[in-house]
Amino acid sequence: MAELTNISLARGAPSLDIIAVDDLKAAAQAAFERDPAGTFAYGTSAGYTRLVEWISKKHDVHPDRVIATNGSMQADAFLFQQLVEPGDLVVVEAPTYDRTLLTLRQMGAQLLAIPLEADGIDVAALELALREGARPSLAHIIPNFQNPAGCTLSLEKRRRLLELAGEFGFTIFEDDPYVDLRFDGESLPAMLSLDDSNSVVYASSFSKTVCPGIRVGYLVGPEDVIASIRKLATNTYISPNMVAQSIVAEFCDSGAIGRSIETVKAALRERRDATAQALERHIPEASFVTPQGGYFLWVDLPEGSDVAALAERSAERGVVFVKGTDFLIEGGDSSLRIAYSAVPPDQIEEGIARVADAYRELAGAAA
Ligand SMILES: Cc1ncc(COP(=O)(O)O)c(C=O)c1O
Repeated sequence: MAELTNISLARGAPSLDIIAVDDLKAAAQAAFERDPAGTFAYGTSAGYTRLVEWISKKHDVHPDRVIATNGSMQADAFLFQQLVEPGDLVVVEAPTYDRTLLTLRQMGAQLLAIPLEADGIDVAALELALREGARPSLAHIIPNFQNPAGCTLSLEKRRRLLELAGEFGFTIFEDDPYVDLRFDGESLPAMLSLDDSNSVVYASSFSKTVCPGIRVGYLVGPEDVIASIRKLATNTYISPNMVAQSIVAEFCDSGAIGRSIETVKAALRERRDATAQALERHIPEASFVTPQGGYFLWVDLPEGSDVAALAERSAERGVVFVKGTDFLIEGGDSSLRIAYSAVPPDQIEEGIARVADAYRELAGAAA
């Protein structure tokens, strides 16, 4: 029997063919020649100056409001260390990024999970919890092409969240690594840009627009919060990876980033379309919100479907995905996340056909 090709619909990462390897080589060469002293020194905890300036221009803020870190995961960890005490209540979306859940739990935070709707977090449910006495210190929100659900927060809800943050005195952590990967619809303003009361700390990353291996991300926030996080960063690692940040600065300043984003978006749009079409063809009872960008699509199967068993049967057929339960404190047993970022369209079609075959087998066994 011919061996099955393994297909991963699990990993939220780009495939190598959509990474701008030649432009990265050129950026590294230029960075090493242009500024060897800055590139090869420790530097400061704020990050490589040219990159910090590029980020501050992108977001139209003073450079003192920026810290560039080793990936946005590091930025998240610093922010949580700075703003969350054990026992603090933190609002999370349900479902949300599994690593955020893990980090917050490890820190001893209490989690207030608010359901996600097609247009982002259920702000009315959050407001109700606040009016009934919940007092979070932080709300973690992934506004664009959410991981894992692919949803985007509407403008109206962005404004309402800012009003609630002002009224109830919590910080919005706007975690926005996918923002530049929009392939349908109009871009919406970041809450950071709508905020006039220092309620928002914003995080983003070059993992999706340059490559994840470069490990460069950043925070933009109120100057006092960023100053404290810079101190924390100094005590943690002296400074982030200057070589990586110098290469990214060159990649951004030279315009290579614009080309890279166009390549990634064109490929992801095709992969998104292939995913939606394959689901409609092979599992018509699946329901999902078609994402307007990003890496992920969330699938709800009919109630009672056993996605844990489906994951096992799919793995036997060489296909992996992440179970919905991994992204939730409770529930999600009949849901799954499909990451289409790393897989060419023909493999997506094949992968979903195999998942559908496993699904039919399980449905047959249950009947
Ligand atoms: C919502 C969210 N935040 C943060 C990250 C971490 O990104 P980075 O590679 O910049 O550490 C991810 C990565 O998948 C993510 O989905």
